Amino acid sequence: MMPASWWQSGVIYQIYLRSFQDSNGDGIGDLRGITKRLSYLAELGVDAIWMSPIYPSPMADFGYDVSDYCDVDPRFGTLADVDDLLAQAHARGLKVLLDFVPNHTSDRHPWFAESRSSRSSPKRDWYLWRDPAPGGGPPNNWISDFGGSAWEWDEASGQYYYHAFLKQQPDLNWRNPTVQGVMHDVMRFWLNRGVDGFRIDVLWHLIKAADFPDNPPNSAYTPALGEMDRLLQLRSTDQPEVHGIAARMRALAEDYRAAGQGERLLIGEIYLPVERLMRYYGEDRPGVHLPGNFQLIETPWQARSLAVLIAAYEAALPPGAWPNWVLGNHDRPRVATRLGESQARVAAMLLLTLRGTPTLYYGDELGLSDVPIPPGQVQDPRELRQPGKGLGRDPVRTPMPWDDSAHAGFSTAAPWLPLNADWPARNVARQSAEPGSMLALHRRLLAARRTHPALAIGDFALLDAEDDMLAYERRHGAERLIVALNLGARPQRLALPDWAHGCRPLLSTLADSVPAQDGTLLLRPNEGVVLTTAD
Ligand code: GLC
Ligand code: CA
Repeated sequence: MMPASWWQSGVIYQIYLRSFQDSNGDGIGDLRGITKRLSYLAELGVDAIWMSPIYPSPMADFGYDVSDYCDVDPRFGTLADVDDLLAQAHARGLKVLLDFVPNHTSDRHPWFAESRSSRSSPKRDWYLWRDPAPGGGPPNNWISDFGGSAWEWDEASGQYYYHAFLKQQPDLNWRNPTVQGVMHDVMRFWLNRGVDGFRIDVLWHLIKAADFPDNPPNSAYTPALGEMDRLLQLRSTDQPEVHGIAARMRALAEDYRAAGQGERLLIGEIYLPVERLMRYYGEDRPGVHLPGNFQLIETPWQARSLAVLIAAYEAALPPGAWPNWVLGNHDRPRVATRLGESQARVAAMLLLTLRGTPTLYYGDELGLSDVPIPPGQVQDPRELRQPGKGLGRDPVRTPMPWDDSAHAGFSTAAPWLPLNADWPARNVARQSAEPGSMLALHRRLLAARRTHPALAIGDFALLDAEDDMLAYERRHGAERLIVALNLGARPQRLALPDWAHGCRPLLSTLADSVPAQDGTLLLRPNEGVVLTTAD
């Protein structure tokens, strides 16, 4: 087998920048804070970090509303701080990915101000302006992901503009070649500085159907869902022309490789069913390296459902495509809240032993839960616009608890969002000292990936299993490993294949595991184990 690239064998760690480490006492995480914590990340054993957006922003959507793509928001630091972070991360062998937000800018971006200024502005076509519908009102029925019409009326120029998210986030017109060109320049600006790639925000949104037809209604809609779910976003997203856009971004990244400047990674944020997701690997030309796979977040936590999902995902991968897995991010409930603490340990083993690049969300290595936010402290526009539906994302964006000193070592001031209530006990310092902690489990799993290439890059095959048991094999060279996960609260038995008789336990999510006897592995409730044929 060819040696794997760093982004295939490695583990990505997602940092929500505002909440990782504050360095200047304003209660908001920043770039110097991350630089200060690089030794933690290196010791944890991850290979790359991606940070939420660093660019100047009015923060209507906390940085996903960019007003200048080639600078840093003063709250987060300076360009010099980026350079310093890159240098220090690279010195430790860590890669750094930025969050690239190409679908929309801030309404305060000078491009939008110019586009809005008049119908004859040279930048009018950089955004999506439309006349009212024939009978008046918005051009079509599209709904913003944050609720309400996705069209905003501009009185002065007498047209509507489209915004898939907040009205402060007007969508760019990616059918316009000049827009494509300036955004490619933005990518080069950062790649030339030494950034190792991008997570591309809402990649599947970039192109909308050219004639802006209505989206069809969603028959599964219930009022408990967000307003966006009234419609299926079939016309406003995932149009065929998006693949050409992704291919051009990939070609741009490949130029760096061809020039001997390393592999620069593109991860697409894409929420789509598996068959449509797969197209983002590329059709006639390569697309993004990793179309984000969020299936583990969205599938019921049952052994049989997960086995079906994993088999379907593996089977759908186009030739040569490298898989990837995600258990949580800054938009979705935390895994420990969704599954409970015991199963969160099993989930960590699953994430870090499946075939494909895992992305670990900051704080999940401590078993952090969603933090309830008192009404007066809500920050997320999604919660503020549609309160009480459980759509708010603040609970999963709370500060990293480092130790039991004031403000958990995150800041010298009150943090911008509250800490987890159990921070005096659930923090990095405390868990570092406890061999049975969630953090210790993550360190063991990450270390095992380095010493056992079968875990990082080996082949994958599901094993026959029943009931609450999910089991699979990883194989590389002479080594064969078995991963057996008990997704339930009762003991489970796994009959081992012949070749695995005599395997020894490599690690368990609980304490040291009991070796298999007579070809049968007995798992305790909520236990996951890895067995190896190597001595
Ligand atoms: C992506 C981001 C989310 C943001 C949205 C609009 O889904 O992950 O946090 O609100 O795009 O940019
Ligand atoms: Ca700060």
